[in-house]
Amino acid sequence: MRLDHFIAKTLDLSERDARFRLIERKIVVDGKTATDHRLEVSRFSRVEIGDRILQEAVTQHYLMLHKPVGILSATQDPVHRTVLDLIDCPDKETLHLAGRLDRSSSGLILLTNDGRWSESLTDPERKIRKHYLVETDRPIPAEAVKKFEDGFEFQPEGIRTRPATLVIHGPCHAGVTLEEGRYHQIKRMFHRLDGIRLVSLHRDRIGSIALPHDLAAGDWRPLTAAEIQSPHPS
Ligand code: URA
Repeated sequence: MRLDHFIAKTLDLSERDARFRLIERKIVVDGKTATDHRLEVSRFSRVEIGDRILQEAVTQHYLMLHKPVGILSATQDPVHRTVLDLIDCPDKETLHLAGRLDRSSSGLILLTNDGRWSESLTDPERKIRKHYLVETDRPIPAEAVKKFEDGFEFQPEGIRTRPATLVIHGPCHAGVTLEEGRYHQIKRMFHRLDGIRLVSLHRDRIGSIALPHDLAAGDWRPLTAAEIQSPHPS
């Protein structure tokens, strides 16, 4: 919300009076005197007027988890263990997932309480690339590379998948890069190649954030400042 709107709403003032408070240099946001009425404030901003605190800042949390196979990409579930059950940090109930993996898949999951940040990662228009390693139940035909690039018609959604990159590493091993995340997308794409099934599916990168080799399945860590700020497309 814009700062003048926030001040007007919180102090029950007209926007004109709210802007006067700014001109009088009475408003402090995150420790700095604010003068620009267009400054964006969120629940993560601390806002003060004189010695009165108008809003305490909520702490932002950003973390990565190495999801093991068998764990549900959800924050709660009556039956299955969820990714949140693996995390032990303050305010964990405020976290949500920035993208999911199937229960049978493993790899990188990002969690946060910052909705703007997760939206910027999952917005299809931003075309954030996600990279996966797959193992198949039988050899991958060479023509699969072009088919992944051309896209597949998906029913019942009635859509064509965006160009995806398939790099064949061995007869039954490949890397797949997607710019979107349709329901069971990679499994369905392989299945269209004469019914190939996946033995394993592992995500090792989302945009510029890579799953570290030393983060064991089931472990998590906070993101670094560089990972939080990194430009997402990779
Ligand atoms: N594609 C799938 O089929 N499953 C996943 O978990 C991710 C991508």
